[in-house]
Amino acid sequence: MKGRLISVEGGEGAGKSSAMAAIGVAIAARGVEVVSTREPGGTAVGEAIRGLLLDPAHAICANSELLLMFAARAQHVCEVILPALERGAWVLSDRYTDASFAYQGGGRGIDPSIVAELERWAVGIKPDLTVLLDVDVHRGHARLAGRGGERDRIEREREDFFERVRAAYRQRAKAEPQRFRVIDASQTQASVTAAVLAALDEAATRWT
Ligand SMILES: Nc1ncnc2c1ncn2[C@@H]1O[C@H](COP(=O)(O)OP(=O)(O)OP(=O)(O)O)[C@@H](O)[C@H]1O
Ligand SMILES: [Mg+2]
Repeated sequence: MKGRLISVEGGEGAGKSSAMAAIGVAIAARGVEVVSTREPGGTAVGEAIRGLLLDPAHAICANSELLLMFAARAQHVCEVILPALERGAWVLSDRYTDASFAYQGGGRGIDPSIVAELERWAVGIKPDLTVLLDVDVHRGHARLAGRGGERDRIEREREDFFERVRAAYRQRAKAEPQRFRVIDASQTQASVTAAVLAALDEAATRWT
């Protein structure tokens, strides 16, 4: 595969969208094609599934949630990610499979070996670099409150859910230190951006 897959992960309000924008600009400055995408979503089918997943009107069982996430992700990989990697683009995804280990695994309590099996069967590819923006749950939620707007179905979960999500993310990072770069996202936005771009540069040096 000629391209690279970079995922940006973290809890609510960690600063993923802000980091995505900075990384996108930095990749383009290298003269490389950048494909910025997100999960759940990234395709017409995936965005429709996202609508189902995030609509507070629906009560969704944990296993259905996991399978819907992977249905959207399988479509994302075959329709967008693989073709982009094949033509040499760097794909930048706002969330990817680690989010299922964190939310459906840690948050909902699904056995991580089942998530791993779906990852192997339905998705098959791992990111070359995963930037984990790690921030205290309260601080992340306070940032979202500052941004305004309605809370989606998952954002309405209780605090202990998000504490488990955060713990699962950190555990993933600890288990795969080569792939992950954990960034303290409680810093100022300028410091977070600098750390994110340094992580990208360091990874890019390894790749070339
Ligand atoms: N380091 C930071 N310090 C203070 N505020 C920040 C920081 N990073 C982002 N913000 C602000 O916090 C809010 C949430 O940031 P952002 O939308 O990037 O987070 P997110 O991780 O993408 O959230 P979501 O989980 O909803 O997608 C925005 O209003 C953003 O401007
Ligand atoms: Mg966002």
